[in-house]
Amino acid sequence: MRTGRSRGRALAPVASPGVPPEPVNPDAYRAPIGTHDVLAPESRRWQALVAAFASRAERFGFDLVVTPVFEHREVFQRVGTTTDVVRKEMYELTDRGGRDLALRPEGTAPVVRAYVQHRPVPPWKAWYVAPNFRYERPQKGRYRQHWQLGAEVLGVDDPEIDVEVIALAHGFYREVGLERVELLVNSMGDEASRPAYTAALRSYLLDHAPALGEEFRERVEASPLRVLDSKRPEWADVIERAPQLTEHLSDESRSHFEAVLAGLDALGVAHTIAPRLVRGFDYYTRTTFEFVSSALDAAQNAVGGGGRYDRLAEEMGGPPTPGIGFGIGIERVLIAADAEGAVEVGPRGRLDAFVVDGIGDGSAARVTDALRRAGLRVDRAFGGRSVKAQWKVADRSGAEVAVMLGRDEAARGAVAVKDLTTGEQVEVTLAGLATWVHEHSTAARRWTPPGAAPETGS
Ligand code: HAM
Repeated sequence: MRTGRSRGRALAPVASPGVPPEPVNPDAYRAPIGTHDVLAPESRRWQALVAAFASRAERFGFDLVVTPVFEHREVFQRVGTTTDVVRKEMYELTDRGGRDLALRPEGTAPVVRAYVQHRPVPPWKAWYVAPNFRYERPQKGRYRQHWQLGAEVLGVDDPEIDVEVIALAHGFYREVGLERVELLVNSMGDEASRPAYTAALRSYLLDHAPALGEEFRERVEASPLRVLDSKRPEWADVIERAPQLTEHLSDESRSHFEAVLAGLDALGVAHTIAPRLVRGFDYYTRTTFEFVSSALDAAQNAVGGGGRYDRLAEEMGGPPTPGIGFGIGIERVLIAADAEGAVEVGPRGRLDAFVVDGIGDGSAARVTDALRRAGLRVDRAFGGRSVKAQWKVADRSGAEVAVMLGRDEAARGAVAVKDLTTGEQVEVTLAGLATWVHEHSTAARRWTPPGAAPETGS
């Protein structure tokens, strides 16, 4: 995918007053195929997910990292020359200064590039929320722009960090209410073990090429490991019986993998060993893992995945630095939440209170402001509407209570407060109003960052 320069293209003239505007092409004013707008109430679920992840990552000692949406193309070429994400799906562009750039197709390479550039003191633990761009065939759960919540740790080789990183992601799904998410783990081996395994796998697969055809042979020649990823039913039998990575691990990789598995057991993190899990990028070494939801269709059931990439920093010109991390697809988590009927990521009440102004002397602005200063989420009607019209807006607003300013109550230093769900009405003094709303709005009471409650297990 390549976008050319568009220097000097004339913009359509702005219509003068009184002259009807030129007809527009309605397709041009729709989000591009494979992308989407996120509006409320859906955006509130996004907010809840991001807040839950941020809170959890902070509890694990991670700091936010923000990197550019585009990088020099070389940064992503490090991700893998045999992966479709880089070879076929990247959004590449040449800017007006002639620089070859690409929109981020995945989150790890930019974070490692930032590590190599800034050299923070290791261990460096960073989390992110960022859009990724892949020119894929759009379908449910697969988009051309998708968002990931991710975490990366650079500078630690200890298998206990693998356990911690996996536990960070594993507990997140539970925290947001997903129960049908399974953890698959594997080891890709290291430089000492991978070549022997790849050679054994290539030779085994090529033995079957005459029966499986030319495309199979080409895929094996290009990258035998990638063939293990394939979901082609006619290849499934041969792939099923292929030699397994875990049988070819070096002693070092094997003991690292065993320590990771033991650490997961010790924390009670349930997992399944998946010997054919190779993941899509060339940078992976040793531990790899994926989270799959049994509530989703098999083709798009990965709600997250990650692994070690112990050579990537060095390949980008940095010091040898082991690394491990994961990415979680926000859209897929929300689709899985819907499929499971998970309530934790359901939209919470939007507002704590709505102010209805029956006086019109400016006190509505002051009361609204005072409530907001007290930490409540408050809105009001504008445009000098009648009290009846304001009540309609209050009913539609999603607020739990309406605060009614009336002259009689004002004379007593009070307001009327109505519970918009039950219809009950009481009089509350202005001085005690914020405290009253805090205590009576379940939305306000619920509004602790998701996941701030103590965990039971991970
Ligand atoms: P990935 O497996 O390509 O890994 O993506 C991570 C997650 O992003 C997937 O499990 C899925 O939930 C979501 N995802 C991927 N592609 C799409 C798409 N086209 N539409 C919707 N959701 C999608 C990585 O990107 C690695 N950077 C993860 C990692 C971090 N490895 C080490 N550190």
